[in-house]
Order: sequence, then structure tokens, then C-alpha cells
Amino acid sequence: MKGIILAGGAGSRLYPLTLVASKQLQPVYDKPMVYYPLTTLVENGVREICLISTPQDLPRFWQLLRNSAAWGLAVEFREQAHPGGIAQAFVIAESFIGNDSVALILGDNVFYGGDTFPRAFAEFQAGATIFGYQVHDPERYGVVEFDAHGKAISIEEKPKQPKSNYAVPGFYLYDNQVVAVAKALKPSPRGELEISDVNAKYLEQGQLRVHRLNRGFAWLDAGTSTSLHEASAYVQTIERRQGIKIGCPEEAAFRRGFINLAQLEELAAAMPNCEYRQYLQRVCQENHDG
Ligand code: G1P
Repeated sequence: MKGIILAGGAGSRLYPLTLVASKQLQPVYDKPMVYYPLTTLVENGVREICLISTPQDLPRFWQLLRNSAAWGLAVEFREQAHPGGIAQAFVIAESFIGNDSVALILGDNVFYGGDTFPRAFAEFQAGATIFGYQVHDPERYGVVEFDAHGKAISIEEKPKQPKSNYAVPGFYLYDNQVVAVAKALKPSPRGELEISDVNAKYLEQGQLRVHRLNRGFAWLDAGTSTSLHEASAYVQTIERRQGIKIGCPEEAAFRRGFINLAQLEELAAAMPNCEYRQYLQRVCQENHDG
């Protein structure tokens, strides 16, 4: 399975923070936002990744991730010249996807906890797999409706009258048909190729699987200054309480076996003396001992 991180958009809701750095580069507590979705991909075994961003922002992402080969990853970069919608990512990344299946994650979605993602990856064979997460404001999202047996029966993008409280988070798994599905889409009234239309197409073909993310799972939105601050506070709370880090791609790459202990030690040694380095050195120490 290949991976796409979509980190486009103007970030207008975070103005003036986004005047000089895109939304997905803003800090969520102690790391750039994009580290969190990147880590989610790595934790699920995805090592070939295409990062898509705007022509203005792409050089910054390159700067941030240029060392990712040393994390055991192969990261490619592609431009989204105009904001044409999330589903446009599959058209932009067509040659990257090749004949593979692909996981798309949005660069501003922060996930934490549970085993639903690993299970979904392990069970994925064909079609599409998406997730449903209960929220109090579903009208801001793609919304999935279920019948009495828990089967998904409709998907709508930002409906004025949502048919359920289940929002669809920005993490999706697709088989290779997704490129053709995306290419056949017509732009929505807001002029975008909508990811909800891709999902609705799979649903219509009886090929959509929806896993519900249960109560213990955190899906944080970091798109406004308030939600960005809340996401930071959440990450800080868990990290300080447990002494672990959320969204640390080097650690995830090590735990997933993309790099070995000696390589992780080398990465930590090359960092300036800071809390992040001390954390990775502790991970190394614990793995020496254990
Ligand atoms: C996008 C998708 C929406 C999804 C959301 C998740 O919304 O269009 O279906 O629920 O991401 O973050 P947007 O970022 O365009 O508001």
C-alpha cells in the first residue's frame, strides 16, 4: 500500500499564522502538524509516500522531510497548483500510485489511539475503507449514514441537515480503481473534486467499508486557532502523563522495523540537544535494555 499526504489549501482560517508557513507546518504542541499524519501512515506500514502541497509551500515540506530516507521512507513531492479538491490528489499522484492500492491522509488530521487502523489495514483487500467518528458538528464534514444493521447507506459532503452524527475523518484506503473514479468526477458546486463523491461511488458499487472509531479514539481537527490550541493541549497532556510521544515518525519507523536501533541512535545523535532528541535516546536505551 502506498500513501499520500495532502497538505494543500490556503489555511485562511488560521490567518495570520499562515502568512509565512502553511497550516500543516504549524506546531501541534512540540512538532509540526504534518508529523502526526505521517506517523499514522508509518505506524500502519506505509513507507512509500507522496506529499502533495502548493507550489509556494512545497519547498518548506521538502526541507522538513528531506532526511526521511534515513527514516526508512521514500517520500516524493508533487504540486497541487490550484485548490481542486481532495480527490484531485489521485489524479496528481497517478504515476506515483502505479498499480498499487493507496492510503490518503490529510495533512491536518491528528489521530491517536485504538487498534481500528491496524485492523482496517490488515483486513483491506479491495474496494474502499473509510472511518466514521461521532462529532457534535457533523455539518462541517463528510457525513456517513448507517441503517439499523450498522451498514453505511449514504455519504454527503457538509450537509446542512446531517443524517447522522458520524463524520468521515481524513484518512481513506482505496484500491487502484480510485484513480479512474477520481478522473471521472465532476467538480462540485464549490468547484472541487470531492472525496465524498469518491466514497459515494464506492458505496454505490457495494465496495465501501466503514469502520466506526469508538469512544476511546481521538481525532483532532487543527484547522482553526481554537482547535489548533486544543490539539496541542491534548498532545501535551498525553505526552506529559505517559512520558511517550505522539506523532514521532522516527520512533514509528523504528517500531515498524523500517530502521534498526543503530540507525535510530544515529538519527538522535545528529539532532541538536533538545527534548525531542532526549526522548529518542530514551527509546533507544529502553530497547537496548529490553
Ligand atoms: C474535508 C473533506 C470532508 C472530511 C474532512 C476531514 O473537509 O471534504 O469530507 O470530513 O476533510 O477533515 P475540508 O477539509 O474540505 O473542510
